[in-house]
Amino acid sequence: MEYRGYDSAGVAVLADGRMETEKRAGKLANLKAALAETPRSADGIGIGHTRWATHGAPNDVNAHPHVDNDNRVAVIHNGIIENFAALRLELEERGCKFTSETDTEVVAHLLGEEVKAQDEDLAAAMRAVCRRLDGAFTLVAMYAGDPDMVVAARRNSPLVVGRGDGENFLASDVAAFIAHTRDAVELGQDQVVELRRDSVTVTDYDGNLAPVREYHVDWDASAAEKGGYEYFMLKEIVEQPQAVADTLLGRVGVDGTLTLDEMRLAPSELREIEKIVIIACGTSYHAGLIAKYAIEHWCRVPCEVEVASEFRYRDPILNRQTMVIAISQSGESMDTLMAVRYAREQRARVLAICNVNGSTIPRESDGVLYTHAGPEVGVAATKTFLTQLVACYLIGLYLAQVRNTKFGDEVNAVIAQLARMPEQVQKVLGTVGPVRELARSLSGAGTVLFLGRHVGYPVALEGALKLKELAYMHAEAFAAGELKHGPIALIEDGLPVVVVVPSPEGRGVLHDKIVSNIQEIRARGARTIVIAEEGDESVRPYADELIGIPAVPTLLQPIISSIPMQVFACELALAKGNDVDQPRNLAKSVTVE
Ligand code: F6R
Repeated sequence: MEYRGYDSAGVAVLADGRMETEKRAGKLANLKAALAETPRSADGIGIGHTRWATHGAPNDVNAHPHVDNDNRVAVIHNGIIENFAALRLELEERGCKFTSETDTEVVAHLLGEEVKAQDEDLAAAMRAVCRRLDGAFTLVAMYAGDPDMVVAARRNSPLVVGRGDGENFLASDVAAFIAHTRDAVELGQDQVVELRRDSVTVTDYDGNLAPVREYHVDWDASAAEKGGYEYFMLKEIVEQPQAVADTLLGRVGVDGTLTLDEMRLAPSELREIEKIVIIACGTSYHAGLIAKYAIEHWCRVPCEVEVASEFRYRDPILNRQTMVIAISQSGESMDTLMAVRYAREQRARVLAICNVNGSTIPRESDGVLYTHAGPEVGVAATKTFLTQLVACYLIGLYLAQVRNTKFGDEVNAVIAQLARMPEQVQKVLGTVGPVRELARSLSGAGTVLFLGRHVGYPVALEGALKLKELAYMHAEAFAAGELKHGPIALIEDGLPVVVVVPSPEGRGVLHDKIVSNIQEIRARGARTIVIAEEGDESVRPYADELIGIPAVPTLLQPIISSIPMQVFACELALAKGNDVDQPRNLAKSVTVE
């Protein structure tokens, strides 16, 4: 399971009826070494976890499992418990002692209390606790008083059962048990499972027996780690609806209230900001370029975006009224880190957007907004890019609310649309089959150009970057209006040009202008590949290939228009026989300047 999280790991086993736990920060190898030094014997059951931190730094104490104060119940958890702060307060008032900063520990203490109240029935205790939790979770627990049973529960987070012969397994992915059994049981939403050596009992949260679906897994062990996909990148593209949903989780209230507590910047500080500067590299820089359009429109604050490696060398103007937003999925890019340090020296307030909890850039920033994309193994950023966009939008909308720069109705309407983005992303993923075919047909092309206007321009830049890094092809992006100032000379017979078209609704003028640009290049022989809103008939006559995307507000369109670009680059690279997870010359974290 290490690919699902590798910032810390831990196990709990019962040995002679005593709960024994061992936890270590860092990769699984650290835990293995610790266990080799102090070997444990176990009565027969155990639970283990590899963590990808969401609440609390990735250290030994915050690693899972967590135990109750009597050390009788141990629990591991994936997901986010949204109401953990209120539950923690309540438990502390009853005298509970907390040792970690995690949201998970509240479950250990609640289970400890409930198992006593429920005549030592851990499954009943789990059902009672789950009824009190908000958010998304997979929970797996064991109890020293019943050494033959593991109990688990799920809501909006994966959990599967592996059925063996005289042994049963629970995991968030079949990869964990495929070496032991390929017979699996899928658990439904809001279900609790009671697992014993010879039985698997599934109920809903009220204790009613629930129907289950059994299936046979026909992948081998290495394919299973990638969820059946040949490459992590393919899997990570498909995970995007969940990544977007997880990044929104707990931050958007039903009434449109935004909760961004981790930002650690008070509303009074946010009202003082006179300028925003976004610094980032590569794909994260493209997320920053898109953010500029949204932030300036919603917040009426000037916003600059700069490549981090250039930033500190040109003596930029910064002061206490400047908010610097550093975007880095890894939190370790040296160029961005150096720019953050420079900005703080100049007394700017620094806010990080990052996917890796506890990494250097958020640690050295004044505040942070984590994206919850989960670990991204493929070198090319996909799900982290989409979630960076979500984080940027959340910050922009929050600033607009705090600074009262837009009427509540307008901001609330966008927030409602943002909350629907996981569905829209899912929809786009369902329609990319023809993009794959198109990409394969273009594997012999020498150059591909990309054009866009407004937020479509950074999307075009991102499309070109993806193609360069994965397919090792010459790819370039231009603002469509710049074509006539030079690049149009590149257009020749059969040259593939991908064009991102803004919605005809909100940005009517821009839309019409780009339709003219498409006609101009087509007249000169370009093969036009047009990404446009479904139902936008005005582009059809000029599109050699038309890729439809759902209608969403223009500023949010990059969340969906960048997906066909990812699929296009990935498929074209695969057609050329390239390794899309580890493209040549690149690394996932670039820790040199
Ligand atoms: C492209 C890609 C890189 C990174 C860049 C910044 O797919 O992954 O361009 O976006 O190296 O990395 P982070 O976001 O980790 O700072």
